[in-house]
Amino acid sequence: MRQDSDEKRGPNHVAIIMDGNGRWAQQRGRPRLFGHHAGMRRVREILSACPGNDVKYLTLFAFSTENWKRTQTEVAGLMMMFRRYIVREARALLENGVRVRFIGDRIRLDDKLVTLMDELELLTADNDLIHLTIALNYGGRDEVTRAAKRLAYEIEMGRLTHKDVDAETLARFLDTHVLPDPDLVIRTSGEARISNFLLWQSAYAEYEFVDTLWPDFTEAEFGRVLAKFGQRERRFGAVLA
Ligand code: IPE
Ligand code: IPE
Ligand code: MG
Repeated sequence: MRQDSDEKRGPNHVAIIMDGNGRWAQQRGRPRLFGHHAGMRRVREILSACPGNDVKYLTLFAFSTENWKRTQTEVAGLMMMFRRYIVREARALLENGVRVRFIGDRIRLDDKLVTLMDELELLTADNDLIHLTIALNYGGRDEVTRAAKRLAYEIEMGRLTHKDVDAETLARFLDTHVLPDPDLVIRTSGEARISNFLLWQSAYAEYEFVDTLWPDFTEAEFGRVLAKFGQRERRFGAVLA
């Protein structure tokens, strides 16, 4: 049944909660930011493994709406790292066919970072080999709330009525409106929770929780997780014959 030729075995869209950078650094007696930098290097490796594994969409949780609760040093260090990532990787992303998008609320991010994000989105807008989405100041509840607010505004303006409100219309107002739903959500570091990631979009995603800390998550392990996904039977609420 599941081997039907039109059915793709691997996940088309993989989303990753990249967790465990802090503990990785701690284990080495180093500051947390050391772990974040090590984690950043993994991003390059996992991204480059996507085309060969038929993963067209990769979405990475980089900073949550709750991560502002961390120390000023860590938050500032992370923001600096994001800026550096964009500046350093822009050319390679462009040349490797990666289309980059950012999701999350930009309002709280500093102007310099937002400008770089806008520029990178624009620069890579014609790429189509792989779609990389980076969730920055992203929270699922925040995203749905912002979508609801914009929908309410459209109604207030008379462009929509309450009768137009259904799941499809609401989804058009989400940050992810152009993306397919994730097929597989991976979380590293042994924590088995979602931490406010893609709440709406993951309604029927498969989850994989691995113990490995993000800076240790290799391409080989990524490959194993993808292979395991291929063994699963997705039913989407139906009863399969
Ligand atoms: C994930 O690693 C990266 C971010 C949240 C920015 P953590 O920083 O949460 O690492 P742990 O969970 O403390 O080990
Ligand atoms: C989730 O990890 C956010 C990111 C990976 C960016 P956290 O480390 O912030 O989540 P909790 O606090 O363990 O739930
Ligand atoms: Mg964590």
